Amino acid sequence: MGSVSYGFMVVFLFLGLCHVSSPAPVTERKTYIVHMAKSQMPATFDHHLQWYESSLRSVSDAAEMIYTYANAAHGYATRLTQEEAEILSGRPGILSVVPETKYELHTTRTPSFLGLDRTPDLFTESGTAGDVVVGVLDTGVWPESKSFDDKGMGPVPSTWKGTCEVGTNFHASSCNRKLVGARYFSKGYEAALGPIDESRESKSPRDDDGHGTHTSSTAAGSPVEGASLFGYASGTARGMASKARVAAYKVCWVGGCFSSDILAAIDKAIEDNVNVLSLSLGGGMSDYYRDSVAIGAFAAMEHGILVSCSAGNAGPTPFSLSNVAPWITTVGAGTLDRDFPAFVSLGNAKNFSGVSLFRGDPLPHGLLPLVYAGNVSNSSNGNLCMTGSLIPEKVKGKLVLCDRGVSPRVQKGAVVKAAGGLGMILANTEANGEELVADAHLLPATAVGQKSGDIIRNYVFSDPKPTAAILFEGTKVGVEPSPVVAAFSSRGPNGITAEILKPDMIAPGVNILAGWSGAVGPTGMASDTRRVEFNIISGTSMSCPHVSGLAGLLKAAHPEWTPAAIKSALMTTAYVTYKNGQGLRDVATGKPSTPLDHGAGHVDPVSALDPGLIYDLTVDDYLGFLCALKYTPSQINLVARRNFTCDPKKTYSLTDFNYPSFSVSFASDAATGGSGTSSAPKVVKYTRTLTNVGLPGTYKVTVASEAPEVKILVEPEVLTFSKVNEKKSYSVTFTAGSVSLNTNRFARIEWSDGKHVVSSPVAISSS
Ligand SMILES: *[C@@H]1O[C@H](CO)[C@@H](O)[C@H](O)[C@H]1NC(C)=O
Ligand SMILES: *[C@@H]1O[C@H](CO)[C@@H](O)[C@H](O)[C@H]1NC(C)=O
Ligand SMILES: *[C@@H]1O[C@H](CO)[C@@H](O)[C@H](O)[C@H]1NC(C)=O
Ligand SMILES: *[C@@H]1O[C@H](CO)[C@@H](O)[C@H](O)[C@H]1NC(C)=O
Repeated sequence: MGSVSYGFMVVFLFLGLCHVSSPAPVTERKTYIVHMAKSQMPATFDHHLQWYESSLRSVSDAAEMIYTYANAAHGYATRLTQEEAEILSGRPGILSVVPETKYELHTTRTPSFLGLDRTPDLFTESGTAGDVVVGVLDTGVWPESKSFDDKGMGPVPSTWKGTCEVGTNFHASSCNRKLVGARYFSKGYEAALGPIDESRESKSPRDDDGHGTHTSSTAAGSPVEGASLFGYASGTARGMASKARVAAYKVCWVGGCFSSDILAAIDKAIEDNVNVLSLSLGGGMSDYYRDSVAIGAFAAMEHGILVSCSAGNAGPTPFSLSNVAPWITTVGAGTLDRDFPAFVSLGNAKNFSGVSLFRGDPLPHGLLPLVYAGNVSNSSNGNLCMTGSLIPEKVKGKLVLCDRGVSPRVQKGAVVKAAGGLGMILANTEANGEELVADAHLLPATAVGQKSGDIIRNYVFSDPKPTAAILFEGTKVGVEPSPVVAAFSSRGPNGITAEILKPDMIAPGVNILAGWSGAVGPTGMASDTRRVEFNIISGTSMSCPHVSGLAGLLKAAHPEWTPAAIKSALMTTAYVTYKNGQGLRDVATGKPSTPLDHGAGHVDPVSALDPGLIYDLTVDDYLGFLCALKYTPSQINLVARRNFTCDPKKTYSLTDFNYPSFSVSFASDAATGGSGTSSAPKVVKYTRTLTNVGLPGTYKVTVASEAPEVKILVEPEVLTFSKVNEKKSYSVTFTAGSVSLNTNRFARIEWSDGKHVVSSPVAISSS
């Protein structure tokens, strides 16, 4: 009863302050997400919405209720002054008043690369495949894309509760049996940045950007024969779960993706009954109880929805991951076995390999004069080919060598073109090393690695009359080795919970062909007037929907599996070696990649279908995880939307959390005060429980270790399963000798019955 009358008092007090202070205090309003403790609603209210409204009115008469949340969170989003937000956060029943945060997008041959074409019978279209709905939170969808053709698809599953929201350039008829739902969430965006500029983007689920059409068609697009970008990567383009349905939730706009909109979309997607959620976006690193994606994903997980997210494009820097909650599947990016070679041939007869997706009028035949951008600009960083920085008289009729960085790659080409240049060689610097990303440049251009770039630059500096040619060679397949971890793919360790190894896995994310928006050209630049049905782009934004679609396939094959079971199957069957037995490599270092780069490894969907054993997790396990993190009751309530009390008699341990991978940390000698000579061996013990999802069988363990300083003991070494769903536990004891570890060490624990191999990566560090 106190809540309402107490509210009036504060309102009066607040108004009083306004009268006293002159001029009026700054009352700039910002969006806040107000999380409420549902169980604390006073009995005086009949409905939560009344309670929410009353709590808001207790601090502001004017504040607009932007959203109320029922599934993904309990509470609402509104616009408050900082003072109002502070007052509100002290009120009974309020868990937290979190400022809105902005998230960013983590900007065919894939099915055959993944082996899906070799085993068509495994994923028969036996009814269940069409029952799965993959929800994609992104920039919307281009419904006319052939990837959303619903020819041959059965009726929309009866479990589907979603809808097709109409709006600018989007009609009820824009949806069909493939694109079963489309919604847009702009209230948070508009509250922050003002009304949507409809000359730039449609206030509807329509995708005017391309990113959302690309991700959703990658996850579950229909097969389209004869797809290509300007003839590059030609073939049949199809989504991973090509019989599943797509539901588009547009949450990203020209100015970004706002947390209040994201939470509202997850809220609806849960109500709509999606089976998988795909989010190719992220926003820095904040603790789970402050991260709307983590909070919404927890609720989704409870509803049996697997949430797959991009790991981020901030690699190869360590600790660069986003979306690391253990109830999220975190996906890094690797390359395909496909390349788009475009050679640079210099006047000194040396040539260098590069990549390009340029298609258009060819360069004049033969060698052309070559200049370095840094020599033909007045700007101190003219080497970067920033807008307006090149001197046309010195560029006209020449090829220009530009350095990568700061401005978009295709924009540099446009700058060269505007200055009268004929073509561009785009050289990587140390930041990108040897990683090549092919682009649909607006002029003849190719991208070369750092080593080649340095040599070409030196040639320009040393030769009195430097010349070059660029030779475009189209599409090449069968590139080896592949996959390699993309340099941009975000890397561990996990900066939020060191005990959880992330990313979980990698999937194809470099030069991916998928559907595109008809509203923009392939480069996304306003000056690009070309229109394409398919585009080739790169990022963990592209690898995430691969896993989302594969999760949909597994869900169709095993409707009873939990999201944790699906993730476990994808992780324990992922591969970490090439066919020749050598370890996967990392573009950034040119060396073998580690679990901090590739997690459990590269997805192998055919094996994931029949993993033998899985590491399962229930909602209670995740609650125990929050207890092990020593979350306060209020923090637990924020994430899990319930009044959950950790049992004081129980020991909650992160080492016993049944995750399919291991992240082991030993306190260093320095941390324990030891000199390094007399310290006793350090011991850490983990337990895990395996569930049999295959035939009865006897599994034996093997440990492959690259950590000679650490003894790894698994007990028992044999587990026998006599029936389906039987559970067996084991323990792993890691013992480090007195030598301190000064680098990360890695190992792999594998259970096998001779048919299945159930693998877990191990990352060991001393902290
Ligand atoms: C929430 O849990 C606490 C114990 O931690 C208990 O005292 C309180 O009554 C509970 N509140 C509700 C509304 O259930
Ligand atoms: C570049 O050099 C390589 C190796 O010498 C050769 O195989 C290739 O054909 C050359 N490419 C061009 C375009 O000259
Ligand atoms: C081009 O710039 C480099 C340094 O960036 C310099 O060493 C070189 O002499 C310049 N060349 C010309 C032709 O100006
Ligand atoms: C560069 O500097 C020269 C001489 O200082 C000047 O004539 C020219 O206009 C400048 N060009 C640009 C593009 O700023």
